[in-house]
Amino acid sequence: MAKVIDIIDKPDLDKARSRVRQEIPVVRDEIVVPERLREYAFGRRYFIRTYGCQANVRDEEHMRGYLELAGFTSVQEESLADLVIINTCAIRENAEDKVFGELGLLKTLKTQKPDMIIAVAGCMVQQTHIVDKITQVYRHVDLMFGTHNIHHLLELLDEVYEKRVRIVNVPSKYGEIIENMPTKRTHRYKAFVNIMYGCDKFCTYCIVPYTRGKERSRHLPDIIQECKQLVDEGYQEITLVGQNVNSYGKDFKDGTDFAQLLQAVAETGIPRLRFMTSHPWDFTDAMIDTIAKYDNIMKHIHLPFQAGDDMVLRLMARRYTVASYTDLVRRMRERIPNLTLTTDIIVGFPNETEEQFQGTLALVKEIAFDACYTFIYSPRKGTPAFKMMDNVTLEEKQDRFYRLKEVVDAIAKERAEVMVGGIYPVLVDGISKRKDDMLSAYTENAKLVHFKGDASLTGKIVYVRIQESNVYTLFGERVDDGARA
Ligand code: 5AD
Ligand code: SF4
Repeated sequence: MAKVIDIIDKPDLDKARSRVRQEIPVVRDEIVVPERLREYAFGRRYFIRTYGCQANVRDEEHMRGYLELAGFTSVQEESLADLVIINTCAIRENAEDKVFGELGLLKTLKTQKPDMIIAVAGCMVQQTHIVDKITQVYRHVDLMFGTHNIHHLLELLDEVYEKRVRIVNVPSKYGEIIENMPTKRTHRYKAFVNIMYGCDKFCTYCIVPYTRGKERSRHLPDIIQECKQLVDEGYQEITLVGQNVNSYGKDFKDGTDFAQLLQAVAETGIPRLRFMTSHPWDFTDAMIDTIAKYDNIMKHIHLPFQAGDDMVLRLMARRYTVASYTDLVRRMRERIPNLTLTTDIIVGFPNETEEQFQGTLALVKEIAFDACYTFIYSPRKGTPAFKMMDNVTLEEKQDRFYRLKEVVDAIAKERAEVMVGGIYPVLVDGISKRKDDMLSAYTENAKLVHFKGDASLTGKIVYVRIQESNVYTLFGERVDDGARA
C-alpha cells in the first residue's frame, strides 16, 4: 500500500522573483539530535550522491555532519546503505535526467531492501513541477527537503522513521543564514567556505535565483572564524564559495565588500586562497588590487561571459557588454601578471544567429582562456527565457557546441604547453586515480598535474617540473623545493 504523504511545505517559483528586501535572520540554533533517531541510526549506514556546483558539495558536507552526529556511518555504495540521499542540481535538463535515472534504479534496490529510506534534496526539488512528478511517479521516495532546511534534516528523518509517511518539506523563501551547522568535510587539506547564499542577478536562462533564494551574505567575523579554524587544522587551501562572490556584503549596506573579505581571509595565512564564481558586473578595481597584492591569493579568476554578443547578453540580462567585459579583463591583466582566466559559455540561447555565435568564438580567441566550461542552452521552466520563441534547431546548437569546443580545446592546449619546462608549486591531492605510483596535484592556476611520488606527500605543497601536457592534464617530475629560480 502506498504511504501517506505529509506535505509540510511546497516550493513556489512564482513568488521567488517578487520577494522584497527584508532583514536576514542569522540562525545559531543549538543542534539537537532526537533521541529516537539516535537509537535508529546506531549501526545504520548512509550514502549521499551530489550533483552540481560547490554550493551543493558544501550542503552535502553539512548533511554528513548532521548524519554522523546522529550516529549514522558513511558507506561508499548505494546498495549497502540504509539511507540514501540524492542531492540534486537543476541547472540543466541533463542534470535532472541523471537524477530521474538514478531514482529509477533505486526503486529496484528498495524492492530488495524495503526498509531503505530514500531522500531527494537540493535545487531540483525547489521546483513545484519536480516535487509533483516525484510524488506521483517515484513513490519509493520517502523524503524531499530543499536548500533552505538542511538544518532540519535530523527532525525530518525522525518523522519519516517514526510515522512511516512520505514527507515533502521544501520551503521556498527569501532565506536565512544558518550558522553552527556540523560539517564533515570531503577533503583534509582543501576546504570550501560559503561566503554568501542565493543569487539576485536573475539571468533570464537561470533557475538558481528561484531555487536558492535571495542573495544574502554571511557576516565577516563568522567567515573569518571558520577560515582561522581551517588554518589551525592544517588546511592548505580555502575556496570562498558563492553564486556571485563579487556581490559579497552588498546586503549589509555598510560598505563591506568582497575586497575587504578577501584581504581578511588572505591575512589568516592560509597558503592558498581561491574564490568562485565571479560576475563581471560587480568586479571592482579594489578587488583586482587585493588579488594582485597577496601572494596567497591564487591568480586564477573564473569569469563567466556566457555569450560574445551584446544583443544576446542583453536578452540574458547579464548587465555587461562585450566591450566592458574585455575592458575588465584588460584591467585585470595589467594589474595581475600571469593571470589565468577560465569561463562559462552558453551556446544556442533562443534565436542566437550564426553571426552572434561567431562573436562568442571571437571572444574566446581574443581572451585566450585556459579553460572554458561550455553548455548548450537548456530551457528551465519558470525562467523568462523559457517563454522565448526559439528558431534555432537542436542540430544547429549541437553543431555550434562542437565548433566552439574545437576552438576552446586548441587554445587550452596552447596555454598548457606554455607551462612545459617550467617549475611550479603544486598542492598534492593524493594518489592518482589512474596509477598507484602517481600523485595528482594542482598548480596555482588550477591545472591538474600527475607526477611520481609517495602518498605521504598528500596535503603538501611541493615543486614539480612540467614535462608534458595533454590539454587539461600536465605530467611532470618532482624537483627539489629549492630548485625554483
Ligand atoms: N542552460 C545552459 N547552461 C546554463 N547555465 C546556467 N543556466 C543554464 C541553462 N539554462 C550555465 C551558465 C552558468 C553555469 C554554472 O551553468 O554558463 O555560468
Ligand atoms: Fe544564475 Fe546568473 Fe545568478 Fe549565475 S549570476 S547563478 S548564471 S542567475
